[in-house]
Amino acid sequence: MDNRSLLIVDDEPNVINSLKRVLRHEGYTLFSANSGKEGLDLLKRNDIGVVLSDVMMPEMDGVTFIEAGRKFKPDIVPLLLTAHASLKNAKDAINRSHVFGYLTKPWSNADLKESVARAFEHYNLVTENKRLQKLTQNQNKQLRIANENLESLVHERTLQLEEAVQEGIIMLAMAAEAKDDDTGDHVFRIRDLTRDICSGLKMSPEQTEQISFFSIMHDVGKIHIPDKILKKRGPLTGEEWAIMQTHCIAGEKILGNKPFYQTAREIARSHHERWDGNGYPDGLKGESIPLAARIVTVADVFDALTNERPYKKAWPIEKALVEMEELSGKVFDPNILKVFLNLRAEDREHGIMVNNQWSTINN
Ligand SMILES: [Fe+2]
Repeated sequence: MDNRSLLIVDDEPNVINSLKRVLRHEGYTLFSANSGKEGLDLLKRNDIGVVLSDVMMPEMDGVTFIEAGRKFKPDIVPLLLTAHASLKNAKDAINRSHVFGYLTKPWSNADLKESVARAFEHYNLVTENKRLQKLTQNQNKQLRIANENLESLVHERTLQLEEAVQEGIIMLAMAAEAKDDDTGDHVFRIRDLTRDICSGLKMSPEQTEQISFFSIMHDVGKIHIPDKILKKRGPLTGEEWAIMQTHCIAGEKILGNKPFYQTAREIARSHHERWDGNGYPDGLKGESIPLAARIVTVADVFDALTNERPYKKAWPIEKALVEMEELSGKVFDPNILKVFLNLRAEDREHGIMVNNQWSTINN
C-alpha cells in the first residue's frame, strides 16, 4: 500500500498552518514539527515517506535535519522550503544534500501540491522497487535451497537405485551359483580377485569397479545347466561337456541387450576363451578376446584350482600358481597373468592370506 504520510517542519507555526490548509484535502496523513529535533523524533516514531522542511531554522537548519534523518530513514524523500531572499545562500546546501526538490516562500499552491505529489510518487516507486528486489532475492534463495534439496534427493535416489540394481545382480549370480557351490562365496572371491588384477593393471577406479562387479555374473548361464552335469563327480562325457559349455552363451543371453550390461555380457560369453585360440565358445585368440573376459579367466581359474569342486580337491596356492604360469600364453594373456603372479608374490612377501590358504604355503 502506498505511503501517504508527510512531515512538515518549520519554526513558524503560521507557515505550518498555511501548508496544512493547502494539503489538508489531498489525502495525506500530516505530521508537523517546530524544530529539527522534534522532526527527528516524529521520523523515528512514524512511517513517514516525504519530509517538507524549512531551511532556515534556529538550532538545526533544514539541511542538517535531513541529513540526520537519513541516517535512520535512508529512503525519505525531502523537499525543502526557503525564503526567496535567502535562496541564493541556501542553494549550495540544498544541492549538497541531494534533496528531491525545493520550494520558495511564498509558494504557489499548485506547485506545492504537485511537488508533494511527485515526491510521494518517487518514494513509493523506490520503496516498491526495493521490496520487489528483496522478494526476488528471497525467491532466488528459496529456489537455490529447493534446487540443492532436489539435487541431494536425486543423488540419494540414484544411490538407492544403483544399490537395488547391484543387489538384483548379486541375487541372480548367487542363484546361478547355488546350483554348484553351496557356500555362495565363489562370486565374491572372483570379484575380489578381479578387482585386484584391474588395480594391478592400473585401470581407472571406475573401470576397476565395473569389471570386478560384473565378474560376479560370469557363470550366470549355469542356471540352465542340469544338476546331474553340474554336480557330477568324475569326468563328463563328450555330450555332457558340450552342454556344460553352453553356459557361456546362455549367460550372455540372460544379460539381455542393454548397453549397461555390455561388459557383463563380454565376460559371460568369453571367460572360457584361451589366449592361444583353443577356448570356447568362439575360439577367439589373443587380444580379440575382450579384456574384461581375459582378466576374469585368470581370476576364475585360480579360484577353481584353489577351491574344492565335486570332482576335485582344493589345490595349494603355490601349486596352482606354478600350474598357471605354465599356461601363460596358452590359456592366459601373459601380461595379465604376470600382473596376477606379481600380486600374489607381494602377498606372499607380506604374509597376506588369500582365500585362507597362504598358510598352506607358509607351512
Ligand atoms: Fe564358466
